[in-house]
Amino acid sequence: MSRDHRIALTRDGVSLSRLVFGAWRLLDSGGVRPDADQVARLIGSAVDLGLTSFDHADIYGNYEVEAAFGAGLARWKGKRDGIELISKCDIMLASANRPQNRLKHYDTSAAHIAASVDRSLANLRTDYLDLLLLHRPDPLMDADETAAALAGLVKSGKVRAVGVSNFTPSQFDLLASRLPFALATNQIEMSVLRTSALTDGSLDHAQRLGYAPMVWSPLGGGALFTGKEQREARVRAALATVAAETGAGDLATVAIAWLLRHPARLVPVLGSMKPERLAAMAKALEISLDRQQWFAILEASEGRPVA
Ligand SMILES: NC(=O)c1ccc[n+]([C@@H]2O[C@H](COP(=O)([O-])OP(=O)(O)OC[C@H]3O[C@@H](n4cnc5c(N)ncnc54)[C@H](OP(=O)(O)O)[C@@H]3O)[C@@H](O)[C@H]2O)c1
Repeated sequence: MSRDHRIALTRDGVSLSRLVFGAWRLLDSGGVRPDADQVARLIGSAVDLGLTSFDHADIYGNYEVEAAFGAGLARWKGKRDGIELISKCDIMLASANRPQNRLKHYDTSAAHIAASVDRSLANLRTDYLDLLLLHRPDPLMDADETAAALAGLVKSGKVRAVGVSNFTPSQFDLLASRLPFALATNQIEMSVLRTSALTDGSLDHAQRLGYAPMVWSPLGGGALFTGKEQREARVRAALATVAAETGAGDLATVAIAWLLRHPARLVPVLGSMKPERLAAMAKALEISLDRQQWFAILEASEGRPVA
């Protein structure tokens, strides 16, 4: 991935690689927990492909992914300032690792945000996050309190930029109205199987304000390959046609290229833990779908031609 394949998030220099490595499934693979050297090798493979940005959350792997990643990062030979670390907070899981949580809930209080970021920094073995996201909208969010906590983290240098995830445009605007700087992104769900962001105002909002949305589960969490519904079969067939037309070779490559074709400058967060699959998806940066190829995939997803 070249320098051109980066997305500037803020005016003062925070940028991400156009494709981001998502760490959610780091501890999922085949029931065998990767050791620090294996994690270091995976980090190296991602960086070699140009995926310098790594997406985390405090809760990933039942609160255990960040520390496993941090152990790998400590073994990795590269430099901290050559990568970007993203984390999230505010989801509170009912988990043996958090016995005080009686049920799943959200917490955007200043005290929780500060404590969660300190834990993420310790687990990732770093002294700053490039980007902190509020993971999900919290119906009890006090926008003044939350914004003051986020602004304090930026001022202290613990966090370089702040954004949100899964927020509606109006939830985004409320928090933004209390902050002394712009929110850097909204990380939302989108894929060839999940197209609601095209019409629910999310991408219009991003383009109006000029931020680049990050996109999670860009392959539908793998359902694109495993799904047995008619919709998934139709989409696979449409992707195969475009893969042949463009020489892309791989359905995943075309599915990512379909996202990259959108003018809102989507930043897909890739969930595969396999370097060869990440490499296939990185090829999406080299192909460009024409309008009719893009609409053929939309038509397959929605099961009808556009009106
Ligand atoms: N903000 C939020 O609320 C939120 C929610 C969910 C996820 N996320 C972020 O988004 C990231 C990506 O989500 P995701 O894991 O659901 O993404 P995804 O890229 O849609 O799905 C990845 C899954 O698809 C599988 N897969 C099967 N065939 C594949 C192929 N040919 N090529 C590539 N992958 C294939 C992967 O398995 P292999 O590993 O075996 O390749 C992996 O289990 C997460 O890591 C996390 O950082 C954020």
